[in-house]
Amino acid sequence: MFSFLKSRPVFWASVTGTTVGFAFFIKDLMQGEKFVNPIRAEDKVVIVTGSNTGIGKETVRELASRGATIYMACRDMQKCEEARDEIVLETHNKRIYCRKCDLASMDSVRKFVESFKKEQVKLDILINNAGVMRCPRSLTKDGFEMQLGVNHMGHFLLTNLLLDLLKKSAPSRIVTVSSLAHTRGEINIADLNSDKSYDPGRAYNQSKLANILFTRELAKRLEGTGVSANALHPGVVDTELFRHMGFFNSFFANLFFKPLFWPFIKSAKNGAQTTLYAALDPELVSVSGKYFSDCNLKDVAPAALDDAQAKWLWAVSEKWTKLNN
Ligand SMILES: NC(=O)c1ccc[n+]([C@@H]2O[C@H](COP(=O)([O-])OP(=O)(O)OC[C@H]3O[C@@H](n4cnc5c(N)ncnc54)[C@H](OP(=O)(O)O)[C@@H]3O)[C@@H](O)[C@H]2O)c1
Repeated sequence: MFSFLKSRPVFWASVTGTTVGFAFFIKDLMQGEKFVNPIRAEDKVVIVTGSNTGIGKETVRELASRGATIYMACRDMQKCEEARDEIVLETHNKRIYCRKCDLASMDSVRKFVESFKKEQVKLDILINNAGVMRCPRSLTKDGFEMQLGVNHMGHFLLTNLLLDLLKKSAPSRIVTVSSLAHTRGEINIADLNSDKSYDPGRAYNQSKLANILFTRELAKRLEGTGVSANALHPGVVDTELFRHMGFFNSFFANLFFKPLFWPFIKSAKNGAQTTLYAALDPELVSVSGKYFSDCNLKDVAPAALDDAQAKWLWAVSEKWTKLNN
Protein backbone atom coordinates (compact mmCIF):
# COMPACT_ATOMS: atom_id res chain seq x y z
CA MET A 1 0.00 0.00 0.00
CA PHE A 2 2.82 2.41 0.89
CA SER A 3 5.10 1.14 -1.85
CA PHE A 4 5.24 4.67 -3.34
CA LEU A 5 7.29 5.66 -0.25
CA LYS A 6 10.11 3.48 -1.53
CA SER A 7 10.92 6.32 -3.87
CA ARG A 8 13.32 8.57 -1.94
CA PRO A 9 11.97 11.93 -3.19
CA VAL A 10 8.43 10.89 -2.35
CA PHE A 11 9.52 9.63 1.07
CA TRP A 12 11.29 12.88 1.95
CA ALA A 13 8.48 15.00 0.53
CA SER A 14 6.08 13.04 2.72
CA VAL A 15 8.27 13.47 5.85
CA THR A 16 8.63 17.21 5.18
CA GLY A 17 4.91 17.63 4.56
CA THR A 18 4.00 15.78 7.76
CA THR A 19 6.54 17.77 9.84
CA VAL A 20 5.38 21.11 8.47
CA GLY A 21 1.73 20.15 8.96
CA PHE A 22 2.45 19.03 12.54
CA ALA A 23 4.37 22.27 13.25
CA PHE A 24 1.37 24.35 12.07
CA PHE A 25 -0.97 22.18 14.15
CA ILE A 26 1.14 22.76 17.30
CA LYS A 27 1.48 26.48 16.48
CA ASP A 28 -2.28 26.79 16.27
CA LEU A 29 -2.68 24.91 19.55
CA MET A 30 -0.15 27.15 21.34
CA GLN A 31 -1.88 30.43 20.41
CA GLY A 32 -4.00 30.16 23.57
CA GLU A 33 -7.51 31.28 24.36
CA LYS A 34 -8.88 34.28 22.46
CA PHE A 35 -11.03 37.03 23.94
CA VAL A 36 -14.06 36.53 21.73
CA ASN A 37 -16.57 38.74 23.55
CA PRO A 38 -17.55 41.43 20.97
CA ILE A 39 -18.06 44.08 23.70
CA ARG A 40 -17.53 47.64 22.47
CA ALA A 41 -15.46 50.27 24.28
CA GLU A 42 -16.68 53.62 22.89
CA ASP A 43 -17.25 54.95 26.42
CA LYS A 44 -13.82 53.92 27.70
CA VAL A 45 -10.73 56.07 28.21
CA VAL A 46 -7.66 53.83 28.35
CA ILE A 47 -3.93 54.28 28.97
CA VAL A 48 -1.56 51.61 27.63
CA THR A 49 2.13 51.91 28.58
CA GLY A 50 4.85 50.71 26.19
CA SER A 51 2.45 50.42 23.29
CA ASN A 52 4.62 51.26 20.27
CA THR A 53 5.54 47.59 19.76
CA GLY A 54 4.60 44.04 20.66
CA ILE A 55 1.74 43.14 22.98
CA GLY A 56 1.01 46.77 23.87
CA LYS A 57 0.60 47.80 20.24
CA GLU A 58 -1.76 44.88 19.54
CA THR A 59 -3.74 45.77 22.67
CA VAL A 60 -4.15 49.33 21.35
CA ARG A 61 -5.14 48.03 17.89
CA GLU A 62 -7.90 45.85 19.35
CA LEU A 63 -9.17 48.53 21.76
CA ALA A 64 -9.14 51.06 18.91
CA SER A 65 -11.24 48.76 16.73
CA ARG A 66 -13.73 48.60 19.61
CA GLY A 67 -13.96 52.41 19.67
CA ALA A 68 -12.02 53.30 22.84
CA THR A 69 -10.19 56.58 23.45
CA ILE A 70 -6.59 55.52 23.97
CA TYR A 71 -3.46 57.18 25.31
CA MET A 72 -0.31 55.43 24.16
CA ALA A 73 2.19 56.17 26.96
CA CYS A 74 5.59 55.63 25.34
CA ARG A 75 9.19 56.78 25.64
CA ASP A 76 10.01 56.82 21.92
CA MET A 77 7.70 59.35 20.28
CA GLN A 78 8.70 58.54 16.71
CA LYS A 79 7.93 54.83 17.10
CA CYS A 80 4.74 55.75 18.94
CA GLU A 81 3.52 58.06 16.15
CA GLU A 82 4.30 55.41 13.52
CA ALA A 83 2.33 52.78 15.44
CA ARG A 84 -0.52 55.24 16.00
CA ASP A 85 -0.72 56.18 12.31
CA GLU A 86 -0.88 52.51 11.33
CA ILE A 87 -3.67 51.79 13.82
CA VAL A 88 -5.70 54.92 12.96
CA LEU A 89 -5.48 54.05 9.26
CA GLU A 90 -6.65 50.52 9.93
CA THR A 91 -9.39 51.15 12.51
CA HIS A 92 -10.52 54.70 11.48
CA ASN A 93 -10.51 55.55 15.19
CA LYS A 94 -8.85 58.95 15.52
CA ARG A 95 -9.16 59.14 19.30
CA ILE A 96 -5.72 57.63 19.80
CA TYR A 97 -3.08 59.88 21.27
CA CYS A 98 0.68 59.54 21.68
CA ARG A 99 2.07 60.93 24.91
CA LYS A 100 5.59 60.86 26.28
CA CYS A 101 5.99 58.66 29.35
CA ASP A 102 9.43 57.29 30.12
CA LEU A 103 9.00 54.86 32.98
CA ALA A 104 12.72 55.09 33.64
CA SER A 105 12.20 58.65 34.86
CA MET A 106 9.88 59.51 37.74
CA ASP A 107 9.86 63.08 36.50
CA SER A 108 8.57 61.92 33.09
CA VAL A 109 5.86 59.81 34.77
CA ARG A 110 4.72 62.78 36.85
CA LYS A 111 4.65 65.05 33.76
CA PHE A 112 2.63 62.47 31.83
CA VAL A 113 0.02 62.26 34.62
CA GLU A 114 -0.12 66.03 34.98
CA SER A 115 -0.83 66.55 31.26
CA PHE A 116 -3.25 63.59 31.10
CA LYS A 117 -5.33 65.09 33.92
CA LYS A 118 -5.52 68.37 32.00
CA GLU A 119 -6.91 66.53 28.96
CA GLN A 120 -9.23 63.97 30.51
CA VAL A 121 -11.62 64.00 33.42
CA LYS A 122 -11.86 60.22 33.62
CA LEU A 123 -9.82 57.04 33.22
CA ASP A 124 -11.59 53.69 32.86
CA ILE A 125 -8.68 51.34 32.21
CA LEU A 126 -4.98 51.62 32.98
CA ILE A 127 -2.85 48.95 31.31
CA ASN A 128 0.66 48.67 32.78
CA ASN A 129 2.20 46.83 29.85
CA ALA A 130 5.70 48.26 29.25
CA GLY A 131 8.63 46.07 30.11
CA VAL A 132 12.31 45.52 29.65
CA MET A 133 13.95 42.10 29.97
CA ARG A 134 17.45 40.91 30.81
CA CYS A 135 19.17 44.15 29.82
CA PRO A 136 22.79 44.76 30.82
CA ARG A 137 23.03 46.49 34.17
CA SER A 138 22.01 50.14 33.91
CA LEU A 139 20.21 52.63 36.07
CA THR A 140 17.11 54.73 35.54
CA LYS A 141 17.28 58.52 35.93
CA ASP A 142 16.41 58.06 39.60
CA GLY A 143 19.11 55.43 40.19
CA PHE A 144 16.90 52.32 40.12
CA GLU A 145 18.17 49.14 38.48
CA MET A 146 16.53 49.34 35.02
CA GLN A 147 14.24 46.28 35.15
CA LEU A 148 13.01 47.01 38.67
CA GLY A 149 12.72 50.70 37.76
CA VAL A 150 10.73 50.35 34.53
CA ASN A 151 8.73 47.18 35.17
CA HIS A 152 7.81 47.94 38.78
CA MET A 153 8.74 51.40 40.17
CA GLY A 154 7.58 53.39 37.13
CA HIS A 155 4.24 51.58 37.05
CA PHE A 156 3.92 51.88 40.84
CA LEU A 157 4.19 55.66 40.66
CA LEU A 158 2.05 55.97 37.52
CA THR A 159 -0.76 53.89 39.01
CA ASN A 160 -0.76 55.68 42.33
CA LEU A 161 -0.80 59.13 40.72
CA LEU A 162 -3.83 58.08 38.64
CA LEU A 163 -5.80 56.49 41.49
CA ASP A 164 -7.93 59.57 42.16
CA LEU A 165 -9.12 59.60 38.55
CA LEU A 166 -9.65 55.82 38.47
CA LYS A 167 -11.75 56.04 41.65
CA LYS A 168 -13.79 58.90 40.20
CA SER A 169 -14.41 56.78 37.06
CA ALA A 170 -15.38 53.56 38.90
CA PRO A 171 -16.08 50.87 37.92
CA SER A 172 -12.57 51.04 36.49
CA ARG A 173 -9.68 48.64 36.06
CA ILE A 174 -5.91 48.40 36.45
CA VAL A 175 -4.29 45.62 34.44
CA THR A 176 -0.61 44.84 34.94
CA VAL A 177 1.26 42.61 32.50
CA SER A 178 3.47 40.37 34.62
CA SER A 179 4.92 37.02 33.52
CA LEU A 180 5.22 33.36 34.34
CA ALA A 181 8.82 34.37 35.12
CA HIS A 182 7.47 35.53 38.50
CA THR A 183 7.47 31.85 39.56
CA ARG A 184 11.28 31.96 39.47
CA GLY A 185 11.34 35.35 41.19
CA GLU A 186 12.57 36.30 44.63
CA ILE A 187 12.42 39.72 46.26
CA ASN A 188 15.99 40.38 47.32
CA ILE A 189 15.34 42.33 50.50
CA ALA A 190 19.05 42.73 51.23
CA ASP A 191 19.83 44.06 47.74
CA LEU A 192 16.57 45.02 45.99
CA ASN A 193 18.37 47.35 43.59
CA SER A 194 21.01 44.72 42.66
CA ASP A 195 23.74 47.14 43.78
CA LYS A 196 25.96 44.40 45.22
CA SER A 197 25.51 41.87 42.43
CA TYR A 198 23.53 41.88 39.22
CA ASP A 199 22.08 38.96 37.33
CA PRO A 200 19.87 40.04 34.37
CA GLY A 201 17.56 37.01 34.66
CA ARG A 202 17.15 37.32 38.42
CA ALA A 203 16.42 41.03 38.15
CA TYR A 204 13.72 40.39 35.51
CA ASN A 205 12.10 37.62 37.57
CA GLN A 206 12.16 39.85 40.64
CA SER A 207 10.49 42.71 38.76
CA LYS A 208 7.73 40.41 37.47
CA LEU A 209 7.13 39.04 40.98
CA ALA A 210 6.98 42.66 42.15
CA ASN A 211 4.19 43.25 39.57
CA ILE A 212 2.03 40.62 41.28
CA LEU A 213 2.86 41.60 44.86
CA PHE A 214 2.00 45.19 43.91
CA THR A 215 -1.26 44.12 42.25
CA ARG A 216 -2.40 42.06 45.25
CA GLU A 217 -1.57 44.79 47.78
CA LEU A 218 -3.19 47.42 45.55
CA ALA A 219 -6.35 45.32 45.23
CA LYS A 220 -6.61 45.19 49.03
CA ARG A 221 -6.16 48.95 49.34
CA LEU A 222 -8.84 49.48 46.66
CA GLU A 223 -11.49 47.27 48.24
CA GLY A 224 -14.89 48.97 48.10
CA THR A 225 -13.79 51.67 45.62
CA GLY A 226 -15.00 49.96 42.44
CA VAL A 227 -11.46 49.95 41.04
CA SER A 228 -10.05 46.50 40.34
CA ALA A 229 -6.40 45.50 39.98
CA ASN A 230 -5.33 42.30 38.26
CA ALA A 231 -2.14 40.88 36.76
CA LEU A 232 -1.48 38.43 33.94
CA HIS A 233 0.93 36.34 31.96
CA PRO A 234 0.54 36.89 28.18
CA GLY A 235 2.24 33.64 27.11
CA VAL A 236 5.55 33.28 25.29
CA VAL A 237 5.11 35.89 22.59
CA ASP A 238 7.06 36.87 19.49
CA THR A 239 8.01 40.48 20.32
CA GLU A 240 11.05 42.72 20.75
CA LEU A 241 11.31 41.79 24.43
CA PHE A 242 14.23 39.49 23.71
CA ARG A 243 16.29 42.32 22.17
CA HIS A 244 18.90 42.23 24.96
CA MET A 245 19.41 38.49 24.78
CA GLY A 246 22.37 38.21 22.39
CA PHE A 247 21.86 34.51 21.73
CA PHE A 248 18.27 34.99 20.49
CA ASN A 249 19.47 37.49 17.91
CA SER A 250 22.49 35.52 16.73
CA PHE A 251 22.91 33.91 13.33
CA PHE A 252 22.83 30.46 14.95
CA ALA A 253 19.55 31.17 16.75
CA ASN A 254 17.93 32.55 13.59
CA LEU A 255 18.97 29.47 11.64
CA PHE A 256 18.28 26.65 14.10
CA PHE A 257 16.78 27.78 17.40
CA LYS A 258 13.96 30.01 16.19
CA PRO A 259 12.56 27.58 13.58
CA LEU A 260 12.61 24.86 16.25
CA PHE A 261 10.70 26.99 18.75
CA TRP A 262 8.48 28.77 16.21
CA PRO A 263 5.52 26.39 16.79
CA PHE A 264 5.51 27.13 20.52
CA ILE A 265 5.43 30.93 20.32
CA LYS A 266 2.34 33.14 20.20
CA SER A 267 1.88 36.03 17.81
CA ALA A 268 1.72 39.48 19.45
CA LYS A 269 -1.99 39.67 18.55
CA ASN A 270 -2.65 36.46 20.46
CA GLY A 271 -0.35 37.60 23.26
CA ALA A 272 -2.68 40.58 23.78
CA GLN A 273 -5.79 38.44 24.33
CA THR A 274 -5.48 37.99 28.10
CA THR A 275 -4.87 41.73 28.53
CA LEU A 276 -8.08 42.43 26.60
CA TYR A 277 -9.92 39.85 28.68
CA ALA A 278 -8.76 41.44 31.96
CA ALA A 279 -9.53 44.94 30.65
CA LEU A 280 -12.95 44.32 29.11
CA ASP A 281 -14.68 41.12 30.16
CA PRO A 282 -17.92 42.17 31.93
CA GLU A 283 -17.74 39.10 34.19
CA LEU A 284 -14.56 40.46 35.79
CA VAL A 285 -16.09 43.75 36.90
CA SER A 286 -15.71 42.89 40.60
CA VAL A 287 -12.79 40.47 40.33
CA SER A 288 -9.65 41.95 41.86
CA GLY A 289 -6.22 40.87 43.10
CA LYS A 290 -6.11 37.96 40.66
CA TYR A 291 -3.74 36.60 38.02
CA PHE A 292 -4.75 35.37 34.57
CA SER A 293 -3.22 33.50 31.69
CA ASP A 294 -4.85 32.34 28.44
CA CYS A 295 -8.02 34.26 29.41
CA ASN A 296 -8.41 32.16 32.55
CA LEU A 297 -7.77 32.52 36.25
CA LYS A 298 -4.44 30.97 37.26
CA ASP A 299 -2.65 30.36 40.55
CA VAL A 300 0.37 32.46 41.40
CA ALA A 301 3.62 31.15 42.88
CA PRO A 302 3.79 30.92 46.70
CA ALA A 303 6.21 33.89 46.79
CA ALA A 304 3.52 36.08 45.22
CA LEU A 305 1.17 35.26 48.13
CA ASP A 306 3.54 36.66 50.75
CA ASP A 307 1.48 39.55 52.15
CA ALA A 308 4.25 40.76 54.47
CA GLN A 309 6.62 41.04 51.51
CA ALA A 310 3.97 42.86 49.47
CA LYS A 311 3.61 45.42 52.26
CA TRP A 312 7.40 45.78 52.55
CA LEU A 313 7.71 46.31 48.79
CA TRP A 314 4.91 48.88 48.85
CA ALA A 315 6.61 50.86 51.64
CA VAL A 316 9.98 50.80 49.84
CA SER A 317 8.39 51.76 46.49
CA GLU A 318 6.51 54.62 48.14
CA LYS A 319 9.76 55.93 49.60
CA TRP A 320 11.95 55.44 46.51
CA THR A 321 9.45 56.98 44.08
CA LYS A 322 8.79 59.85 46.55
CA LEU A 323 5.09 59.17 46.02
CA ASN A 324 3.95 61.36 48.86
CA ASN A 325 6.29 64.32 48.24
N1 LIG B 1 6.99 38.54 24.95
C1 LIG B 1 6.85 37.62 25.88
O1 LIG B 1 7.07 36.42 25.64
C2 LIG B 1 6.40 38.00 27.27
C3 LIG B 1 6.24 36.99 28.22
C4 LIG B 1 5.82 37.34 29.50
C5 LIG B 1 5.61 38.67 29.82
N2 LIG B 1 5.79 39.64 28.89
C6 LIG B 1 5.55 41.04 29.28
O2 LIG B 1 4.77 41.68 28.31
C7 LIG B 1 4.98 43.10 28.35
C8 LIG B 1 5.11 43.64 26.94
O3 LIG B 1 6.30 43.16 26.38
P1 LIG B 1 6.45 42.72 24.85
O4 LIG B 1 6.66 41.25 24.84
O5 LIG B 1 5.37 43.32 24.02
O6 LIG B 1 7.89 43.37 24.52
P2 LIG B 1 8.32 44.61 23.57
O7 LIG B 1 7.85 44.37 22.18
O8 LIG B 1 9.77 44.78 23.81
O9 LIG B 1 7.51 45.81 24.18
C9 LIG B 1 7.91 46.42 25.38
C10 LIG B 1 7.43 47.85 25.39
O10 LIG B 1 7.86 48.47 26.61
C11 LIG B 1 8.41 49.72 26.25
N3 LIG B 1 9.37 50.25 27.22
C12 LIG B 1 10.57 49.75 27.58
N4 LIG B 1 11.18 50.59 28.42
C13 LIG B 1 10.34 51.64 28.61
C14 LIG B 1 10.42 52.84 29.36
N5 LIG B 1 11.50 53.17 30.06
N6 LIG B 1 9.36 53.68 29.32
C15 LIG B 1 8.27 53.41 28.59
N7 LIG B 1 8.15 52.30 27.83
C16 LIG B 1 9.18 51.43 27.85
C17 LIG B 1 9.09 49.49 24.91
O11 LIG B 1 9.34 50.72 24.27
P3 LIG B 1 10.62 50.90 23.27
O12 LIG B 1 10.22 50.23 21.99
O13 LIG B 1 10.78 52.36 23.18
O14 LIG B 1 11.77 50.20 23.93
C18 LIG B 1 8.01 48.66 24.23
O15 LIG B 1 7.02 49.47 23.69
C19 LIG B 1 6.22 43.29 29.24
O16 LIG B 1 5.82 43.74 30.51
C20 LIG B 1 6.82 41.90 29.35
O17 LIG B 1 7.52 41.71 30.55
C21 LIG B 1 6.17 39.32 27.61
